[in-house]
Amino acid sequence: MDNPFIKYNKSNDYVVGDLKKLSSSYIPDNFPHREKQIDSIARVLSSIVTGGLSSNLLLYGKSGSGKTSSVIYVTGMLKETLKGNINIIYINCEIYDSQYSILVYLTNAINSGDAPIPILGLPQDKIYFELVKRLNKSGRYTVIILDEIDKLIQKSGSDALYVLLKIMADSNTSLIGITNDASFVNALDARVQSRLNQESIIFPPYNAMELRDILNFRVSGIIKDGFITEASINLCAALGAQEHGDARKSIDLLRIAIDSALKDGKDCVTIDDVYLARDRFEMNVLKESIRTLPIHSKMVLLSACLTQETDADLSVTGEIYENYGNICTELGFQPLTMRRISDLLSDLEDTGLLTTNTRSLGRYGRMKFIRVMGSIQNVKGYTLEDPAFVNFQGSKIVRQSKLRTNFDAYVETYKNGDFDNK
Ligand SMILES: Nc1ncnc2c1ncn2[C@@H]1O[C@H](COP(=O)(O)OP(=O)(O)O)[C@@H](O)[C@H]1O
Ligand SMILES: [Mg+2]
Repeated sequence: MDNPFIKYNKSNDYVVGDLKKLSSSYIPDNFPHREKQIDSIARVLSSIVTGGLSSNLLLYGKSGSGKTSSVIYVTGMLKETLKGNINIIYINCEIYDSQYSILVYLTNAINSGDAPIPILGLPQDKIYFELVKRLNKSGRYTVIILDEIDKLIQKSGSDALYVLLKIMADSNTSLIGITNDASFVNALDARVQSRLNQESIIFPPYNAMELRDILNFRVSGIIKDGFITEASINLCAALGAQEHGDARKSIDLLRIAIDSALKDGKDCVTIDDVYLARDRFEMNVLKESIRTLPIHSKMVLLSACLTQETDADLSVTGEIYENYGNICTELGFQPLTMRRISDLLSDLEDTGLLTTNTRSLGRYGRMKFIRVMGSIQNVKGYTLEDPAFVNFQGSKIVRQSKLRTNFDAYVETYKNGDFDNK
């Protein structure tokens, strides 16, 4: 048998640069249509260059709107301007989602010349003081970037941030929080809210024309002109625009389409390659993990989607259970007990389809909030693919007005700052 790699192992005239630059982790040196946001971030951070203290900054925007890469780019430029004389620490809160893990990570990331502390086993107050000591000892300004900061709050509540902000108040440190869930700020303690949200910058979704410019910029110098048809660029841009203006999706689609056209030995990328790329893309883990769920879990998941769509603030166990009951009735199933549904909700959380977060509503009691992970539209779409849902018309979705009133009252009290009396 011939070596199966032979037909792929030849240089290609169409590739003139490094294809790895189309991967999502590559940080480009230019961001079309993000000039304003980049300038706004630089303006806030510029106080550091002139020897002052920068405000804390919160960046909002849907996923794929360029938040992470813009921040990494700008802070990289800041470091260059200061000739390396600054600590820039990037933490992804999807991975580091507890106060403890973040404190340890920060302590070890500060360039203070001390030996690393162990990852486990130290009491938290000890780490706290060690971190403060190292921050001061390092003698440099520190910028902490908490990406997906809402995940930290979801998992660990606002206390985790409160501690961080407290540390920062005692040292030359600023925080940049990044989130695609603007509503998470409402769940924060008033003291945390005002400190965190000193400045905020919005990353609006890209439209198809902007995505087209981004794609053309990203492939220039990598792929020979003419290898990618204009129609296929436009299609990648349109598909990304459909998906809440997601540059990641557009770039991924184009990269996969280029890759398969090259492997097939074609002399250009056409819209068919893009459609094929999309099909491959969408047969993803999410779809598969939903497809294999038992029917009652699918109904619970659908209920979570519909409840969250109706009122994202109030996606709580009680409402999800009630809406699940309506879906069962509509489809002719006997609803399971509340207890069984609690188990199914935990299972869905284990598979990463949902996240839950128990919050105290002050004197209005405690409530378990539930969020569907990823795009609700996709999750709903994949769930409804089960033949059991063919006759699903859309059940009546309840909204507990009493709960809403309590929640609003809670937020109101919060704003007035008398929260310590609860
Ligand atoms: N304006 C832009 N120009 C070039 N590439 C961009 C632009 N905006 C986003 N990208 C690219 O799209 C992908 C997703 O961007 P990212 O910053 O990760 O988005 P977010 O953090 O908002 O989800 C990354 O590969 C990024 O480099
Ligand atoms: Mg990001």
